[in-house]
Amino acid sequence: MNRALYLLLITLLIPTLLSAREAKEYDQDVNYEENRLPEYDLPPLLVSSGGKPIKTPEEWFSIRRPEILSLYSNLIYGRIPKPAQPVDVRFEVVKEDPDFMDGKATRKDVKIILENEKGRVSMHFLVFVPNNAGKPVPAFLKHSFNNTQSNDFDASETRPGFLKNGWPLGAFFDRGYGFCAVYQQDLLRHNEVEFLKGIHKLFYPEGQSFPKAHEWGVLSACAYGASRGMDYLESDTDIDHTRIAIMGHSKMGKATLWTAAQDDRFALAISAQSGCAGAALWRRKSGETLKKMVTRFPYWLCRNAWKFVEQEDDLPIDQHMLLACIAPRPVYVHSSTDDTWADPRGEYLSAYHASEVYEFLGKKGLTSPDLPEIRKPILTSEVGFHIREGGHSIDPYDWEQFMKFADHHFKGK
Ligand code: GCU
Repeated sequence: MNRALYLLLITLLIPTLLSAREAKEYDQDVNYEENRLPEYDLPPLLVSSGGKPIKTPEEWFSIRRPEILSLYSNLIYGRIPKPAQPVDVRFEVVKEDPDFMDGKATRKDVKIILENEKGRVSMHFLVFVPNNAGKPVPAFLKHSFNNTQSNDFDASETRPGFLKNGWPLGAFFDRGYGFCAVYQQDLLRHNEVEFLKGIHKLFYPEGQSFPKAHEWGVLSACAYGASRGMDYLESDTDIDHTRIAIMGHSKMGKATLWTAAQDDRFALAISAQSGCAGAALWRRKSGETLKKMVTRFPYWLCRNAWKFVEQEDDLPIDQHMLLACIAPRPVYVHSSTDDTWADPRGEYLSAYHASEVYEFLGKKGLTSPDLPEIRKPILTSEVGFHIREGGHSIDPYDWEQFMKFADHHFKGK
């Protein structure tokens, strides 16, 4: 059988077989007990792979941070290959509505076109700019599960100040923030299992149709998309591209951290309940584990990540290092008590351990290894956090803390 066909069949079959097996296993042997955690040592932040202590911020930025990012690219999320031919990026503002939400904001529908001789892919990027605020405005950019071409982004007629999808954009506009959204499936189409039709094809040389073991999975492609959104924002004079907060929930919270770690044009990052492959520490194996993740979602990470299943201690990184790569830019982690699949304590600890680098760079981090009390947000240090009661969602209380965190770090309030 032809090799490409064989790979495709395997690709389609493995998840089906695994998900049939996992339907039984998915909720089994998941550890949620703090007293049953494995013992672990985290890889050091401030010692290079070659054992050299990192003594100055310059050494962090020139030696250790690039080293860590490269480990993430090759072993966890997947490296973006060099494109087959240069990819041309173009923007077209296809629609502009200055009367969005009864005149509170201007909505711009922007088509971002990515093209080379291998093909053309486009993203539908949404940009909302408050009308009654001095320009350029700081803005949030959300990695979105909602399709930016659907009516999810219309203003709700029944709840003034909200989008149909429930996001409180009116509150953002009142506080002087713009809001942008990039849709996770624009670059990957609707099938995460099959990469042939989306962005990946622009990057493959003749004969390649599938990522190599160290090449990009879904989360890396999402991060690439958000960076193209940032390219557009750099050209929009209504938006202050030096004050963009990238944010996302759950799978998109994972994409958020990876985007911000690599692309330092994002001035602040907010990861909401990002869990496994997001803020949570791999080595705790609490709630979702690497094994559960790669068997249910084989393409979110790169295939090299599979090699560490049940070998987490061999990973040269853990997720505190991903957050540390965002330093000194503010990073916020949001958890909730019942979202145990995402390991709230593991999310917090990662932020706590990343604080070592923030402090090394002269910023404020989290000072206690103990989880803060419920609804006692930490907003004024560069590493922020809150935990609330309840489950897996972004609630009004969470939105409010995200805005307060940005107010503090963007506006000094
Ligand atoms: C699943 C997955 C999580 C992910 C979540 C989501 O539960 O296991 O890792 O965060 O989906 O994206 O909502």
